[in-house]
Amino acid sequence: MKRTLGVCYYPEHWPEQQWEEDAARMAALGLTWVRIGEFAWARMEPTPGTWDWDWLDRAIATLGRHGLKVVLGTPTATPPRWMIDRHPDMLAVDRDGRTRGFGSRRHYDFAHPGYRTECARIVTAMAERYGQNPHVAAWQTDNEYACHDTVLSYSPVALTAFRNWLAQKYQSPQALNRAWGNVFWSMDYASFDEVGLPNLTVTEANPSHWMDYRRFASDMVVEFNRIQTDIIRKYSMAPIAHNYMGQITDFDHFKVGADLDIASWDAYPLGFLSDRLTADADHKRRFVRQGDPDFQAFHHDLYRAVGRGRWWIMEQQPGPVNWAPYNPDPLPGMARLWAWEAFAHGAEAVCYFRWRQAPFAQEQMHAGLLRPDSAPAPAFHEAEKVARELAEMPNQDSAKAPVALVFDYESAWAWQVQPQGRDFDYFRLAFHFYRGLRRLGQNVDILPPDTTDLSAYSLVLAPGVATLSPELLTALAAHQGHSLIGPRTNAKTADFATPVPLPPDLPGLSATVARVESLPPDVPVPLQNGGQFLHWREKLETSASVVESSDDGWPALVTNGRLSYLAGWPDDATLDRLLTDALTRADLPIDPLPEGLRRRDSATHRFWFNYNPVPVEWAGTTIPPAGVHWQKL
Ligand code: GAL
Repeated sequence: MKRTLGVCYYPEHWPEQQWEEDAARMAALGLTWVRIGEFAWARMEPTPGTWDWDWLDRAIATLGRHGLKVVLGTPTATPPRWMIDRHPDMLAVDRDGRTRGFGSRRHYDFAHPGYRTECARIVTAMAERYGQNPHVAAWQTDNEYACHDTVLSYSPVALTAFRNWLAQKYQSPQALNRAWGNVFWSMDYASFDEVGLPNLTVTEANPSHWMDYRRFASDMVVEFNRIQTDIIRKYSMAPIAHNYMGQITDFDHFKVGADLDIASWDAYPLGFLSDRLTADADHKRRFVRQGDPDFQAFHHDLYRAVGRGRWWIMEQQPGPVNWAPYNPDPLPGMARLWAWEAFAHGAEAVCYFRWRQAPFAQEQMHAGLLRPDSAPAPAFHEAEKVARELAEMPNQDSAKAPVALVFDYESAWAWQVQPQGRDFDYFRLAFHFYRGLRRLGQNVDILPPDTTDLSAYSLVLAPGVATLSPELLTALAAHQGHSLIGPRTNAKTADFATPVPLPPDLPGLSATVARVESLPPDVPVPLQNGGQFLHWREKLETSASVVESSDDGWPALVTNGRLSYLAGWPDDATLDRLLTDALTRADLPIDPLPEGLRRRDSATHRFWFNYNPVPVEWAGTTIPPAGVHWQKL
């Protein structure tokens, strides 16, 4: 498939006389896609029921005249001010019980029936008008579900919806009481109308209560999105995407993705490094202008799974952003490297955010491809270079990886609800293993937790998966390749109880977790073969073969030959050793890479990406800082 570039554009921000020239410059730059519309509700419907589509008709026509294809966004992330008067209770409520106000964006509760109806109304109007428009070649629903911490709401509306959700799930309050273990502190309910939300309790609420609330909140996102996709599909054959984010686990992206044709995500490598990545100060300093060498790749692979093979970058950082604690300028070359890395992982399109830097409002400090005075900013020239290079080798089909990592959103909620140690963070654990594989030069596929067939993989990893699904357990039992499971995998039942027989209860592996302990960061547990466990370890009773033990004799890694269980959180050096062994047993070649250099194969090429601020000698060449090197396979 042909790979393409695009940009995010806001015609409503600029005088109409400028549109023609903007479109001409986009086309000359070599762009294919222009995403528009996703925040323009107040311009589409200035007062309730009064539509103004003329400007949008003209904007789409102008872009289309220049051969550009439009991704049309539904504007439901930014309901206009008048909407709040119509539905005063549509605003979400935070965990402390405060109503979140108007004046920015995402001011809605996913569960609000009235707001859902309003969204259905505008999406129907848009789909009727533009569903057959020849220039509208893709859709985007809403914008960044979960952004600004907006999935969890503790509003009266959410409470009503939660009670209904529970009634459907459990059918009787007695069944709910049993599943949650409400006998524990006399928490039994006589009717679903007695159940509250799990915030504002005196001390921690029942973890099963939290888990069901998290599942409910995720389901509200799925339902909200599905209302839009069902409508769009009635009027349009164009594919539908949503733009997800980095390191956000508040809803099950696999479930939202099941209703979409394309997964896309918004990649802001420097913002993520500064704002959310857990890493030491040296690492953050070294990569401050490049971004973390594995963070983007992890999400590329994750969203390739969420999109069942079809995925894009909908927003690509072009220069300094405005929202992280620190917002440095990218190293020259990074706006090109990030795009090529996405293509190497199978992205169909990479769209830069945004065309021109806005001189007004919240994001006036956020760079674009153009400066506010319309002169090109540095990323403009880098995008131009990528466009030229793509013209030379446009077809980068994604290659199937031999190694797989299971990623499960419910596990992220589980270990937030009951971390048992401050540092037990699911995303961090999964990313740690992913990074370890990449240090050894591996191509990785990420798999959803209900995967039924592992036969394509020589090695499968499943760290920290709270509950192994029946599908995955069956697939693991049938798997002819190698698997490395744990730590803390299959440690809870679906109701969030401790299973008996005790975990991990894996087919064909006699091992029982008899005790767990969490550890402060400065109390590692040394291992007999060198290295250590950090944060977390488990005491196994086992008759399986013990491959590694800690200094005090607790088994650290046990195996039955093909299936191994790891009883702790390994530090980097230990992880490298364990993964090297696992890959070797699985007959996979390892290619340990220098710091900051990463490798990825497409179906036809091998790529190297130098995230370092210094050149690296590798693959028979000097790869400059921010350099991309490729060879035909
Ligand atoms: C994204 C968002 C965009 C814009 C951008 C700035 O999270 O989708 O609308 O705010 O961040 O980096």
